[in-house]
Amino acid sequence: MQSSQVHRKEQTRVLGREVNLLDRYPKSSRTGKVGERAVHISDEQREISRQFGREYFDGDRMYGYGGYNYHPRFWQGVVRRIRDYYDLSEDASLLDVGCAKGFMLHDFKELMPNLTVAGIDISEYAIENGLETVKPFLRVGNAKELPYEDNSFDLVTAINTIHNLPLEECKQALGEIKRVSRKHSFVQLDAYRTQAEKERLERWVLTCKTYMHVDEWKELFAEVGYTGDYYWFIAEID
Ligand SMILES: C[S@@+](CC[C@H](N)C(=O)[O-])C[C@H]1O[C@@H](n2cnc3c(N)ncnc32)[C@H](O)[C@@H]1O
Repeated sequence: MQSSQVHRKEQTRVLGREVNLLDRYPKSSRTGKVGERAVHISDEQREISRQFGREYFDGDRMYGYGGYNYHPRFWQGVVRRIRDYYDLSEDASLLDVGCAKGFMLHDFKELMPNLTVAGIDISEYAIENGLETVKPFLRVGNAKELPYEDNSFDLVTAINTIHNLPLEECKQALGEIKRVSRKHSFVQLDAYRTQAEKERLERWVLTCKTYMHVDEWKELFAEVGYTGDYYWFIAEID
């Protein structure tokens, strides 16, 4: 066997699984108006978005979500999918890194009332405006330095969060996710597979600081020893 084959085999062995756990998230909500914003994104716009304050969540669409509001149709299907995929027991524990206002955690609690949930987000605004049902379980903090003991959670998720950090801090964050998870983890990241996807991503991306080819992400996982599962957010609209 050639050394490149050996390397590939080794990489396959240590990596987690590539799995789209957001396949039940309504597609239009993630990609919908992206095209409108992509016409021209200024540095100032990006600077404001990257503060992850009111403007990003509930300001004009040019800075982010243009109104980050709860709707059951967004996460209800996803949380069932995640529960079933990981066969989570009723009393399992879950940490969501980049939880924003806690929408996903809220739907998890609705589905599994005995689940222990925790959410962390860099945004004071998002945590202050978190859903009341899960607010006691949310806190402000940075993915690169998670304030939890080793092996604290059965599942750790980070959905569209880690790529907002510069490369070195992405590595730290992946290491932290691995450290605090005792069983499973799942990250979804901005990525591309083709030149066209790369160009689309570059045109509309607002907050992301590290975006890479899917194979480069996988190499990074191997480098830092991240053995959890993963999937990609790929820009689909011109
Ligand atoms: C694109 S939003 C995703 C929110 C939610 N996970 C979802 O999928 O709807 C990215 C989130 O990551 C948070 N975030 C950005 N950098 C972070 C960091 N270094 N540590 C923790 N959270 C961060 C932002 O405040 C924001 O809530």
